[in-house]
Amino acid sequence: MRGKILRIVLSFVVLLMSSMPVPAQDGVGTGQADSSITIAVIGDLAGKKSSQQVSDLIIAQGSVKAVLIAGDTCNTAATPLGEYGKLYKGTYDRILSILYPCPGNHDKRSIPPFSGYCSFWKEKAHAPDMYYSFDLGGWHFVSLNSEAFHVKGKDESAANQIEWLRKDLAARPGAPVIAYWHRPLFSKAKHCGDGKMKPFWDVIHAHGPALVFNGHNHVYERYDPLDSEGKSAAAANGIQEFVIGPGSSPDKDGMLNTEPPVPAVFHDKALHVGFFTLAPDGGYKFTIKAITDGKIKEVDTGSGRLVPY
Ligand SMILES: [Fe+2]
Repeated sequence: MRGKILRIVLSFVVLLMSSMPVPAQDGVGTGQADSSITIAVIGDLAGKKSSQQVSDLIIAQGSVKAVLIAGDTCNTAATPLGEYGKLYKGTYDRILSILYPCPGNHDKRSIPPFSGYCSFWKEKAHAPDMYYSFDLGGWHFVSLNSEAFHVKGKDESAANQIEWLRKDLAARPGAPVIAYWHRPLFSKAKHCGDGKMKPFWDVIHAHGPALVFNGHNHVYERYDPLDSEGKSAAAANGIQEFVIGPGSSPDKDGMLNTEPPVPAVFHDKALHVGFFTLAPDGGYKFTIKAITDGKIKEVDTGSGRLVPY
C-alpha cells in the first residue's frame, strides 16, 4: 500500500515538472520561453586596425540583433563622406544593417556640418534633427543628438528635442528603456562629464528607470543607478550609465578625480565592446569585453532588471 502511494506521488511530481516552463539557456528573463535578444554597444570608431578587431569581435559573438554606436561614428580628424567609406569597408559594413548610429562632435566635421554623417547613414541619420526611437525585443530604444546642445547662437533644436523625448517616452509606458547619445553627463575620464546633457536625464528619470549608453571618452565606465543630480538612486528608479567610448584610440590617463559620483567600474587602455542580453520583462545582463594588443578579456559583467513605473 505504502509503495503504491509513493508511486502515485512520484507520478504526480513528474507530471508537474513536465508542465513547468524550461528556464532559458541564454536568457535573462523569468523562465518563460527565451525571447531575449543580444545587442552590442560601441562608440568613437576610428582606425582600420581597431575597427577590424572590434567588428570581428561583434561578428564572432553571433546572434547580435543590433549594434548601438554612441556617436563619433567616424572619429577621424575630418569626416567628409569618403572617410566613412574608407573606415567601414571590410569592417563595420559587414553588419551595416544592424547598426544604429547617433551623431558625435567628430561627425560634425564635414562642410556643411554633419553632411558626411547624413550622406553615409542615409535614412538612419534621421536628418535633419538626427534623433529617433525604435522598438526591439520588447525594449524601447532612443537615439539622441547631444550635439544639438553645442550649437552657437540662438537655436531651438535642443529644446525641441527635449519636448520630442518627453512625448516619445510617454507614448511607450511600461517598456524598459535604453537611451544613448554621445557626450556623457557623468564621466571621470579626459573630457569629463557634460552638464549640458542634464535635460536628457531629467526627462528620462521622470519617466522611469533606464540604461544610458554614451561615448566621447575613450574608456569604459559603469555607474550604479543615479538620479539626474548624480545622487545614488534605487535600482527601481535610477539611471544606470555606461560609457563605452573606445572603438579607436584608448585613453591612458586613469580617473581624473574621486568626487562623486564615482564609477563602480573604470577601465582604460583598451578597446571596449559591451554586450547586453535583454529580456522583454526588463531583465538584462551584460558582459564588457576589452581588446588589448589583440587579446580579448572580460572586464565587467553584471545583471539587473528595469521595472518601469
Ligand atoms: Fe567625441
